[in-house]
Amino acid sequence: MAGKVTVVGAGFYGSTTAQRIAEYNIVDTVVLTDILEGKPEGLALDLNQSRSIEGFETKVIGQTTTIDGQGYEAIAGSDVVVITAGLPRKPGMSRMDLIETNAKIVRGVAENVAKHAPDAVIIVVSNPLDEMTALTQIATQFPKNRVMGQAGMLDTARFTHFVAEELNVPVASVKTLTLGSHGDTMVPVPSRCTVDGKPLSDFLSAEKIEELVVRTRNGGAEVVALLKTGSAYYAPSAAAARMAKAVIEDSGAVMPVCAWVDGEYGIEGVYLGVEAEIGKVGIRRVVETDLTASELESLKAAAVAVREKQADVKDL
Ligand code: 2OP
Repeated sequence: MAGKVTVVGAGFYGSTTAQRIAEYNIVDTVVLTDILEGKPEGLALDLNQSRSIEGFETKVIGQTTTIDGQGYEAIAGSDVVVITAGLPRKPGMSRMDLIETNAKIVRGVAENVAKHAPDAVIIVVSNPLDEMTALTQIATQFPKNRVMGQAGMLDTARFTHFVAEELNVPVASVKTLTLGSHGDTMVPVPSRCTVDGKPLSDFLSAEKIEELVVRTRNGGAEVVALLKTGSAYYAPSAAAARMAKAVIEDSGAVMPVCAWVDGEYGIEGVYLGVEAEIGKVGIRRVVETDLTASELESLKAAAVAVREKQADVKDL
């Protein structure tokens, strides 16, 4: 086994991402960092003590870091860095309400990552996702293929869960897809949704599909409202960990992710949720899928909205 993955931020999202990657048993080392002194070290010790029970050899290293970069030596040589740093939403907040606070945090982290792990592929999960992904690329000046964001895997998984629950069928029989932003301009793609290979519209009315689409779009907020403190992390960390695995294994898996789009779908220059082939270089290529005219229109509208916000982040 070789390879090293760093997870920045030892909150629930970060620690469960680190746990999942360690349990895959595909890399030598997982580094977990946080600015809360002792927290990453404590979680790493606890995770390492689970190794003989769960049967994985990956070693987890916990490392407290400071905003000015102390402790970041621990991430040197990382193949993948997952950035979870930043605040989660509180009930009633939109992801966009976090933009100013999280931009400062994510910019600082990104600069330290660029300095200490200059060859890494970065997976951003901090919110607002599409903007924090764009900001990370700006702050690191990494090639755009080496910076991506996690959102589509999560939104798709939520949509799949809602469809499976509605029809009382196994999740494995359901395929769904969401593109666009991880926010108000999320674009669920009903034309690409199937149950046992048959169109979703054979099983559910247009009204019911729209209801599930709306619930998917509000999927994060629904969990935030129930938890009252913090936001979702089991499904989000599952998605981020699978993306990291695809990079480590250079698998070529095609996943919905936030990737740099420049020309595909006739959309120019924006980080946006699309399907992409993932490998050790990060994004190998954006994979265009057939969309109906109205789905394409929604994706283009999402691109316009996200591009405007992404233009603002460079000054934050
Ligand atoms: C969510 O949708 C954390 O944005 C993430 O739950």
